[in-house]
Amino acid sequence: MSPDGSDTILIVDDDTNALKGMRRFLSRPDREIVAVERAQEALAVLGERAVDVVISDIRLPDVNGIQLMEEVRRHYPETDVVLMTGYGSIQDAVAAMQKGAESYLTKPLNPDELEIVLTRILQKRALIRQNRELLRRLSGQRVSSAILGTSREIREVLKTIQEVAPTDVPVLIEGETGTGKELVARAIHRHSERADGPFVVVNCAALHENLLESELFGHERGAFTGAVKQKKGRFELASGGTLFLDEIGEMSLETQAKILRTLEYGTFERLGGTRSLQSDVRVLSATNRDLREEIGKGTFREDLFYRLNVITLRIPPLRERREDIPVLARAFLERLAAVQKKEIRGFSADAMRLLEAHDWPGNVRELEHVVERAVILCPGGEIAASHLPESLRESAGSASSRNVVIPVGTSLKEAEKRLILKTLEAVDYHRGRAAETLGISKRKIEYLLKDWGLEGLGRKSRKRG
Ligand SMILES: Nc1ncnc2c1ncn2[C@@H]1O[C@H](COP(=O)(O)OP(=O)(O)OP(=O)(O)O)[C@@H](O)[C@H]1O
Ligand SMILES: [Mg+2]
Repeated sequence: MSPDGSDTILIVDDDTNALKGMRRFLSRPDREIVAVERAQEALAVLGERAVDVVISDIRLPDVNGIQLMEEVRRHYPETDVVLMTGYGSIQDAVAAMQKGAESYLTKPLNPDELEIVLTRILQKRALIRQNRELLRRLSGQRVSSAILGTSREIREVLKTIQEVAPTDVPVLIEGETGTGKELVARAIHRHSERADGPFVVVNCAALHENLLESELFGHERGAFTGAVKQKKGRFELASGGTLFLDEIGEMSLETQAKILRTLEYGTFERLGGTRSLQSDVRVLSATNRDLREEIGKGTFREDLFYRLNVITLRIPPLRERREDIPVLARAFLERLAAVQKKEIRGFSADAMRLLEAHDWPGNVRELEHVVERAVILCPGGEIAASHLPESLRESAGSASSRNVVIPVGTSLKEAEKRLILKTLEAVDYHRGRAAETLGISKRKIEYLLKDWGLEGLGRKSRKRG
């Protein structure tokens, strides 16, 4: 199809009258008809422009129609070919279909039949185009709207979203990288009364401090070198909607002060401006840092923390809700296999075991990448363990055994950590029994777990088991 949406039909026939006749009765405003008498000319046209359908006589003076079709199939696989054979030459017709013609017509041509055949092909092409467009849009939609998972933790997150969405309170979303903080922020916006308004993201980590302020509040013309035009800030752009401050822990104290003021008074000024502007925004923020710790260090303002953190929504790392792994993996597989146009039924039992055993430091995003890679590597059928990255297979190898691998170069502290974690795993995370095995006190284990940020380790599996 050409850029203006019309279909291009190339007719090849050395019978000038037949050519003229066909051009006349196929002609329509949404079709562009190119008529040539020789195969060589046809190939020249194909080399220059996108042709949807070639309609060619089999008997041509230079190359015959079947050879022309073979050339087209090889070099322009997107183009459909219809061959025309002399009356009664069944053999030609059979050969044409076998070699990949979409259809064939017998001469003398019946105009209605020609039109029917062509319309059918063009409709089929339009469907394929639509389908591709849909798939492309699906795959381009990086943030799929559904928050998947069946774990108690995820159900808790969904419940909180439902509860806080309709209110205008600020929500601080905490979670390790890749746990779905942005996904959750978008869900809150979508379920709020501001859903029809804008959802504006500011990534506080990605921008240099000065730029960040101009991004947030905008600037007047001439506010600084390079400010050649007045520019609206994100606070202004988000008015009537939601402003999502991502990676809030990376902001300078100065910017924090300005944000705090804006949130307190609902007003702000553009950089270099004096006019006080109003903005009606709901603020959601996210961080993968422990802001309380940052407050302790003096790098995050306590007053801003309490402003942003009216409600905290913590998304637990994937390793603390392993039952979500198969759910997410299957959903990603389905989506990504459709994008890659592959027939993949699912994961082999081995592959799934590896996925479930991995610790996923990159959380859901890492899982998504691993599935994407596996879909690319898997020719079809089932995703096998061999389609998963080496690192997954290694970590599972040590996870299933009761040995701790401690290479030379490991610090004593780290070695201690690995041994303790491994022991806990072996006794189903029973702190007392692990302490006994290791010959240390239960309190020491609890203290260390807390120190490593792993207080909750195994809590769920103990409850379930
Ligand atoms: N529960 C979930 N269901 C479906 N997809 C999810 C879920 N959680 C995360 N994802 C997907 O994982 C990817 C990462 O999510 P997102 O960008 O929201 O994470 P993040 O916490 O903001 O990460 P970062 O801290 O690195 O910015 C996205 O593609 C998102 O759609
Ligand atoms: Mg994010």
